[in-house]
Amino acid sequence: MAVAEVMARAQAFCARFGLRLPILLAPMAGACPAPLAIAVANAGGLGSCGALLMSPEQIRAWVNEVRAGTSGPFQLNLWVPDPPPERDRAREDAVRAFLATWGPAVPQDAGDAAPPDFAAQCEAFLETAPPVVSSVMGLYPPEFVARLKARGIAWWANISTVAEAVAAEAAGADVVVAQGMEAGGHRGCFDASRAEAEMVGLFALMPAVVDAVRIPVVATGGIADGRGVAAALMLGASAAQVGTGFLRAPEAKLAPAWADALGRTRPEDTRVSRVFSGRPGRSIATDYVRAATAPGAPPPAPYPVQRGLTAGMRAQGTKADDISRIQAWSGQSAALARAEPAGEIVARLWREAQTLLT
Ligand SMILES: Cc1cc2nc3c(=O)[nH]c(=O)nc-3n(C[C@H](O)[C@H](O)[C@H](O)COP(=O)(O)O)c2cc1C
Repeated sequence: MAVAEVMARAQAFCARFGLRLPILLAPMAGACPAPLAIAVANAGGLGSCGALLMSPEQIRAWVNEVRAGTSGPFQLNLWVPDPPPERDRAREDAVRAFLATWGPAVPQDAGDAAPPDFAAQCEAFLETAPPVVSSVMGLYPPEFVARLKARGIAWWANISTVAEAVAAEAAGADVVVAQGMEAGGHRGCFDASRAEAEMVGLFALMPAVVDAVRIPVVATGGIADGRGVAAALMLGASAAQVGTGFLRAPEAKLAPAWADALGRTRPEDTRVSRVFSGRPGRSIATDYVRAATAPGAPPPAPYPVQRGLTAGMRAQGTKADDISRIQAWSGQSAALARAEPAGEIVARLWREAQTLLT
């Protein structure tokens, strides 16, 4: 395909969503403060919010802050919830005992902590009416999709296999966001039990998804410099979504030990494991991750029980700025992330990509 067609595809996507350039901040629960989204949107890209852990009031406040700081577009993102997990107290006790060697004693009811009410979060999305709402870990219920569309809100579905992309298009998604297994944070698989078996890299996933659906495809996972952006567009992407590549920006306000560690994390220094939340996610292979995945370590409890069980250790680790106990999510291209203002990162990535594509 001629480079002119590649650029025309990206330009059409930008025109449709009010972007000046095809670089998107990835939704990252707990790591998308409003100033980060504002900086990316003001640089011409798409701002984002991973709202998984936010109450409706927090969602409204985030949107108000972003709208006060930019007239650019942004997305709000939610996890589609799984049915409640089956509890196994003996297994949880083994995890609690293990975690007590890494952080504070884990209260017996720590695993009961549930994420905020999904239906109430969906209502906050409809009320605040962002240009884009995205889903991950499954597809939104048809009634919610219909209400989004009635309000003129686009639905972008995160997928990590061809089958998920086809299902998302059939369910009415306007865009699919193809997440390669290089990605930092949780794998967005609809069925967590298949997440480790179905690890597809972005170079194989992108062309396969582009050939399987008619809607635009956004690429995400391991893109953190202009080479990655240019390659993603050549593989058929309409835009590149970047997560870890923005985490060292001052606006991300990451724990310093985590931000520093990203800069020296090679691709092989990250791991996909369930040891933080019970769902598979890619993090730096810290001491805790290595110990908790070693033979003989207690198997993690299911999501979100494991998230509750590790909360004390994670909070203590963040407070102490101790990388061993921080939930240090990281994609495989972490070392490409630079400690630059987010707007400069956006401009640099696009400048580098354009040089390669012209
Ligand atoms: C700290 C962190 C939190 C994340 N939280 C979410 C989330 O809440 N929802 C979501 O769809 N994806 C989430 N992701 C995944 C990103 O949206 C995206 O797929 C990933 O960052 C792309 O890979 P990269 O980190 O190599 O750029 C998260 C990623 C990170 C690093």
